[in-house]
Amino acid sequence: MIEAPGRSCPVSYRYGAPALADCAAFEVETLWVAGGLYGNRCALERLLELFDAEPGEKALVFNGDFHWFDCDAADFAAIDSAVGRHLATRGNVETELAQRNVAAGCGCGYPDWVSDAEVARSNRILERLRGAAGAQARALGALPMYRVARVAGERVAIVHGDADSLSGWGFSQERLATPEGIAAARAALRGARSRVVACSHTCLPVLQSCGDFGMIANNGAAGMPNFRGTRFGLATRVSVRPRPGALHAVRVGRAHVEAQAIAYDHARWLGRFLELWPQGSDAYESYHQRIVHGPAYDPLRALRAA
Ligand SMILES: [Fe+2]
Repeated sequence: MIEAPGRSCPVSYRYGAPALADCAAFEVETLWVAGGLYGNRCALERLLELFDAEPGEKALVFNGDFHWFDCDAADFAAIDSAVGRHLATRGNVETELAQRNVAAGCGCGYPDWVSDAEVARSNRILERLRGAAGAQARALGALPMYRVARVAGERVAIVHGDADSLSGWGFSQERLATPEGIAAARAALRGARSRVVACSHTCLPVLQSCGDFGMIANNGAAGMPNFRGTRFGLATRVSVRPRPGALHAVRVGRAHVEAQAIAYDHARWLGRFLELWPQGSDAYESYHQRIVHGPAYDPLRALRAA
């Protein structure tokens, strides 16, 4: 069966948990993982403030989809250069920008619960983003699909989608709400020889304990609200020491795994978003409600025991 653009998961997106298990780890005291920045420069500023204030050995990883709403050459270049000063893995947005392969559309691998209209809008957003990316797009394809860190003696696999694929939805809050989803997450943690998988891509956050196997830490979006009635993004922080003010915090061995709020300047970001994507545009139709009101999802649902 040939799947529609935006629905498929290209073969080149696949790696599998054993690849994560074989990946050499870099060691830090504190790791920040920010997926789904979506071209929000205000969220980038706030994230860098938080990261810069961290003491000790540290790393910041942008685990994909750092571009999306930044369909202006200057905005795109600003995001690109900031990300380039830290570590990154590519998301489906960066991969598709680099490949110029329209067959995958936005490469999101959208599941059934996302409507055809939304998938079509995403594909058109990606096409507009190509114009802003210009020659910089090619370099994005050289970014890795995954990285592994070691924090407080624990291996932390960093991916965009799930343990199998760059655009996998296995670590979405929807799949992790099922017994099959939990069983698959446990197998993935074991297969990846990691006790934490830091992921993103599915747009809603979940900090899912898998008991002795470890933890799935999906940050949702760094550059968009993640909860009803809120206006902040989220990033995952893993550290030898806790940071006050975490929205959610759990321990995996000696590592503190936290969901940290990225409380960006909402008014300034909304102004820029509306300049780039005015009423009637594809991104306005798909995201304006969420940017202003947050999604229909609550913080209590994002913290899940084994
Ligand atoms: Fe994604």
